[in-house]
Amino acid sequence: MNSPRPPATAAAAEDFLRSIHNRIPGRQSVGVERAPRADGTTSYAALADEVAGARRVLDLGCADGALLALLAGRGAETLAGVDLSAGELELARARPELAGAELRVGRAQQLPFGDGSFDAVVSHMALMLMSDVDQVAAEAARVLVPGGTLAVAVGGGAVEGEAVELFLTLLRPYLKAAPADRHMPRLGDRRSRTREGLDELLAPAGFGPVGWRTVTIDLGGTPAELWPALTVCFYDMTVLDERQTAELKAEFLASAAGRQDADGRIAAGMRINIATARSAGS
Ligand SMILES: C[S@@+](CC[C@H](N)C(=O)[O-])C[C@H]1O[C@@H](n2cnc3c(N)ncnc32)[C@H](O)[C@@H]1O
Repeated sequence: MNSPRPPATAAAAEDFLRSIHNRIPGRQSVGVERAPRADGTTSYAALADEVAGARRVLDLGCADGALLALLAGRGAETLAGVDLSAGELELARARPELAGAELRVGRAQQLPFGDGSFDAVVSHMALMLMSDVDQVAAEAARVLVPGGTLAVAVGGGAVEGEAVELFLTLLRPYLKAAPADRHMPRLGDRRSRTREGLDELLAPAGFGPVGWRTVTIDLGGTPAELWPALTVCFYDMTVLDERQTAELKAEFLASAAGRQDADGRIAAGMRINIATARSAGS
């Protein structure tokens, strides 16, 4: 049976995400795994800490299954993931830790799972891209057991004065100058990026108050190492053509060179906010 199409703006956003992730699957997890926090762990680990002890876990926007594999290693027994991209899920299915996991191509707004199927629902850097987030919240509440945990990681911006901020400053004029036919569709709902916004959208679905903490990851390295990491992290780069990408790269490498430490490295911090909420108890 075919699922009904989402509204036009959501469909455009989802087509964009699906096509990028089918073209370059697996990039996000490589980026995350090479960006440690000060204690050497990743933002996947920070999110997994929030659902420690959960036996049945669903990941919304699971991509290549890196977070699910980590959860399997920590003892979760029943794992499931949903993603728009068949290419990403193909990589997830190839992970031995996920041999028994239920990995489905689909939309987080229409989950193919029964009521009360999971102790925890997680989502790493994906909820913030989703349209109809109220519907995602309602679906997460439906598939959670009463009192189950929703834990999401959403982008919290660049650390001031470091290389991610520099990159974004240099990128901005290119985005402004881009012709309309290269513009990206609008992704996500602003509310999913703040604690207050998440409170507003999760409460009607029956969730309790949102808990919130911020972790900082470091993409840092030499400017030449940093460049590919930055270009993978930001979907906006798809707006630039080849010539503009080369120009931006030259500008970035020249500006970054002046900021290197004695080892040639440059700091490139990004904040990730981790939000948690409990579904209504029985
Ligand atoms: C930035 S990537 C993050 C992937 C993964 N969570 C990670 O951090 O490694 C966002 C992922 O969310 C998926 N996605 C976006 N909107 C979605 C939706 N409405 N339903 C299911 N998956 C979605 C995309 O296909 C993509 O794989």
